[in-house]
Amino acid sequence: MRSNVDAIVIEGMEAGGHIGPVSTTVLAQEILPHVSHDIPVFIAGGIARGEAVAAYLEMGAVGVQLGTRFVCANESIAHANFKKAFIRASARDAIPSVQIDPRLPVIPVRALKNREMENFAAKQREVAQKLDEGAIEMAEAQLQIEHYWAGALRRAVIDGDVETGSVMAGQSVGMVTREEPVAEIIRELIDEAAAALESRG
Ligand SMILES: Cc1cc2nc3c(=O)[nH]c(=O)nc-3n(C[C@H](O)[C@H](O)[C@H](O)COP(=O)(O)O)c2cc1C
Repeated sequence: MRSNVDAIVIEGMEAGGHIGPVSTTVLAQEILPHVSHDIPVFIAGGIARGEAVAAYLEMGAVGVQLGTRFVCANESIAHANFKKAFIRASARDAIPSVQIDPRLPVIPVRALKNREMENFAAKQREVAQKLDEGAIEMAEAQLQIEHYWAGALRRAVIDGDVETGSVMAGQSVGMVTREEPVAEIIRELIDEAAAALESRG
């Protein structure tokens, strides 16, 4: 393989945070068979149970990367409000931010829907209107959109403002049901993966 990288992570759009447009299952099928012999590949996005870990290992991955599943670990420094929002949420609450105007690029971020997401849509409409009226230059307009979420993750995770912050969460958030130690989460994942592999003989 033409690269000097040690390993790669393939992350699908089910993941929390910044995402692309393609799902983990499709990316894994498209990429793993072709590169896993040459370079270690980790799979990420939407994984919350050991059965899924086992399936990707069987497909040739050397490991997985999980984010959402660990947010409510006891060891996680996330604010109690942030953890509460995760425990309450179901998969369909974790939605990507939406681009309203083709001139104003938005890199999608998957997060729990809240008031600020609605405000962001309104902000995009407001900036687009200023562009139409010639009241603002394109560069300035794009900058305003790009900077909109600056500090928003910290506002939610550290300050606990889950209405005006960015509550980044993946679609697996529905499977996060309680606070528990990291060791417990890892033990559950390993037990589920081992049982899945054993049942296949
Ligand atoms: C609250 C939260 C914050 C995240 N922040 C970052 C970040 O700053 N940089 C980054 O590369 N990935 C970030 N991620 C993505 C994770 O590193 C990981 O790749 C992703 O959560 C895996 O998908 P999953 O959420 O479906 O488990 C974040 C994810 C969450 C849930």
